[in-house]
Amino acid sequence: QLQPVLLSGGSGTRLWPLSREAYPKQFLALAGEHTMLQDTWLRVAPLDALAPIVVANEEHRFLAGEQLRQVGVEAAAIMLEPVGRNTAPAIAAAALQATAAGADPLLLVLPSDHVVRDADAFRAAVREATPAAEGGALVTFGIVAEAPETGFGYIQAGPGEGVREVLRFVEKPDAATAQGYLDAGGYYWNSGMFLFRASRYLEELGRFRPEMLDAVRKAFESAARDGDFVRLDRDAFATAPSDSIDYAVMERTDRAMVLPVDIGWNDVGSWSALWAVSPQDADGNAHHGEVIAVDSRGSYVWSRRMVALVGVEDLVVVETDDAVLVAKKDRVQQVKEVVARLKADD
Ligand code: GDD
Ligand code: MG
Repeated sequence: QLQPVLLSGGSGTRLWPLSREAYPKQFLALAGEHTMLQDTWLRVAPLDALAPIVVANEEHRFLAGEQLRQVGVEAAAIMLEPVGRNTAPAIAAAALQATAAGADPLLLVLPSDHVVRDADAFRAAVREATPAAEGGALVTFGIVAEAPETGFGYIQAGPGEGVREVLRFVEKPDAATAQGYLDAGGYYWNSGMFLFRASRYLEELGRFRPEMLDAVRKAFESAARDGDFVRLDRDAFATAPSDSIDYAVMERTDRAMVLPVDIGWNDVGSWSALWAVSPQDADGNAHHGEVIAVDSRGSYVWSRRMVALVGVEDLVVVETDDAVLVAKKDRVQQVKEVVARLKADD
């Protein structure tokens, strides 16, 4: 059986001022009618999957459950993290929950803040990856690398077709290394979606990061349960080291496999990424909200009030109730510096 695990703990600071700590991007309808969390569920629902396990920050407990209910599903469990410890502990908590009653389902681990334009191709890929995951592999879904992005994991795939061996997994290499991989060919970006048996993940985590697994196990065993909520024990969970699945497990395991996919994937990590996945007019402008563009090109506007552009190119303009962002489109990675400064001023 297929157990979706929706990772919903990120803070999406590069999409400030829309995405906030109190309301990060997975809970926003950035790229369509539904929020990204809702789309993530709707994408897997036709696979005849179990109700999802959501792992989220304590602060977002109501948002997550409510948003899923709006699209017709009651989460099997909403695991609440008292503090963020990154994805390796979050997935461990979900794996413990999934195996608590003696079952050992395949976990389909999904970031809840990605765009996948071809949902059919995505589901076909999950089906194709299933036998390998049942056989004990930790399967990742690889995206054809297009640029030397440093925010992704890089996967060197073994020879063959379909699901194949991972020769090397390198999380977030520096720019020169990433360029080297592109030049060499045969490397894919890690999409951040995984398929593996719950027990297999726990086994691998126990092998590489036993202290982390211990801490999460304690937090899970002393968790307070109320309704759908599983509140991981604060003291125990806080002792878990903070690390991602990519560093903690995927770079080290010899059981990784990769299925290259072409599913219209985008991790919408920045305003320029959102511009790239949005419908654009003949001048390459995209917007959410009312815009009049005169002699303006390649810009993205997100606004509640009407925004007019005159004679500008490649800008991002985001207008919200309490903050306005104006940035060059190729500098939007630095929006996180704004957030850092705001935090420092707090
Ligand atoms: N519950 C929970 N708790 N979720 C978390 C936490 C946490 O502490 N930290 C992150 N997440 C969620 C995020 O909301 C996101 O949906 C997903 O887990 C991945 O975390 P990111 O922080 O966005 O990771 P990344 O983008 O830097 O890198 C990962 O994704 C890339 C593709 O977008 C890695 O898997 C890379 O290898 C990959 O290329
Ligand atoms: Mg991400």
